[in-house]
Amino acid sequence: MDVNAPLALLGGLSPQQFMRRHWQKKPLLVRQALPGIMPPLDRAALFDLAGSADVESRLVVQQPGGGWRVRHGPFARRALPPAKQPGWTLLVQGLDLHVAAAHALLSRFRFVPEARLDDLMVSWASDGGGVGPHLDSYDVFLIQLHGRRRWRVGRQRDKTLVDGLPLKILANFQPEHDWVLEPGDLLYLPPAWGHDGIAEGACMTGSVGFRVPSDDGLARELLQRLAQSDEVDGRLYSDPQQPATTTPGAIPEALQAFARDALEALVNERGALARALGEVLSEPKPRVWFEGQADAPAWQAGQGVRLDAKTRMLYDSEHVFINGDAFDAGGRDARLMQRLADERCLPARDCKLLSPGARALLADWAASGWLHAEEAA
Ligand code: SIN
Ligand code: CO
Repeated sequence: MDVNAPLALLGGLSPQQFMRRHWQKKPLLVRQALPGIMPPLDRAALFDLAGSADVESRLVVQQPGGGWRVRHGPFARRALPPAKQPGWTLLVQGLDLHVAAAHALLSRFRFVPEARLDDLMVSWASDGGGVGPHLDSYDVFLIQLHGRRRWRVGRQRDKTLVDGLPLKILANFQPEHDWVLEPGDLLYLPPAWGHDGIAEGACMTGSVGFRVPSDDGLARELLQRLAQSDEVDGRLYSDPQQPATTTPGAIPEALQAFARDALEALVNERGALARALGEVLSEPKPRVWFEGQADAPAWQAGQGVRLDAKTRMLYDSEHVFINGDAFDAGGRDARLMQRLADERCLPARDCKLLSPGARALLADWAASGWLHAEEAA
């Protein structure tokens, strides 16, 4: 993708200009960002997906008396209210993992690093449906896929929530803008902007969501990974200078220093933190399964490859990461694997340039269903 070329998707801004002016800073409304867009799936197919245990879904129903009811999927079709009943919405997460057109739509936003890109959610709402005025802690691109939806949005100083509800609803929502989105319109919102989308007639909305690691959560995951590393040398504590003590309950200072050194060694081990980070960030989501191919070779030299839609592939200057596994990579192999991660495909002519070891990896990944063979064009 040429990040300096203007994109209709971003209202004529280049990805570079969008990131500088809007990303994490201020909303952007783009009329007809995706003219003539077709929803990646129809209502019936969306409802079917919400019936699968592998798919995360939520049903939000506004009660006639003003309350809210929230349930989590999977949902049999008969568990969903009739489409004509106003005031309900079904939200289905991770459409990009299951529907090729949804994956293609999400891919248009790959001017943001993949490590930050989360998924494409699609919601279907009956007339008046929505999830109420709320804040999200992540950026979002809202894409109107079908029908009309009224969005009211505003910076929100007062973040107080209504007590006792099954979902987080702002008690004092203060909208600054009021826009009705038509199919093909796009609205970008930075984190913590209050927003309330109400369906005007039945409608379908897509939202591109982003991953926001928290420092404590990430630190916990990294430490777990680092602790499993076999690079730690297993040095034992020794204390030949320990005097006899009259305070046997006190932890010796030398033991505190030993603990600190052990942790520092773990984190400072050359490349270990970068490796653990790549493993954590490329880990597939909990409900993701790959269909492996045990018998016939799934990929042979002479064919190109394309990553499976569920595969997460990332890299840093010394490693390549795929679905939670790390591989040291350098030289031409590294450059080609980086191209595979960036483009999500590698043509046959590039696959031929890989070393025998790297080609063996491609064959393994193909057998695991992480990537698929593509015939030369
Ligand atoms: C929706 O699609 O109904 C909600 C999306 C959001 O508010 O983030
Ligand atoms: Co939201």
